[in-house]
Amino acid sequence: MNISHIEHIGIAVKSLETAIPYYENVLGLKCYSIEEVADQKVKTAFFKVGQTKIELLEPTAEDSPVAAFIEKRGEGIHHIAFKVDDVACCLHEAEEKGVRLIDKAPRKGAEGLKIAFLHPKSTCSVLTELCTE
Ligand code: CO
Repeated sequence: MNISHIEHIGIAVKSLETAIPYYENVLGLKCYSIEEVADQKVKTAFFKVGQTKIELLEPTAEDSPVAAFIEKRGEGIHHIAFKVDDVACCLHEAEEKGVRLIDKAPRKGAEGLKIAFLHPKSTCSVLTELCTE
């Protein structure tokens, strides 16, 4: 797969307004971007930690997958995103190795990244995102 680093960690929160002050005032990180991703029915807030980012995810609709996650498991770590060279190629490779895919092809995520998710049933229960610029 040729993963270079952890691009971001996605964290499900009920409210960005409540969560952002913790990351800024306690951890001393700076929120540099807030973006709504209509496709995934979330509003995202980003912080840089070295070359990795924290991506806070607030659901914007009751049928948002993140709303379902919070309902079932509460707030917390939602997914881990690995930076790869070629998402389509990695999806193909994963599928050949018997991994169940959520996305059969890359789609557009926050920050203009190309992203795709692997199913937690095939990834030791960690929702796994592959992404590239
Ligand atoms: Co993500």
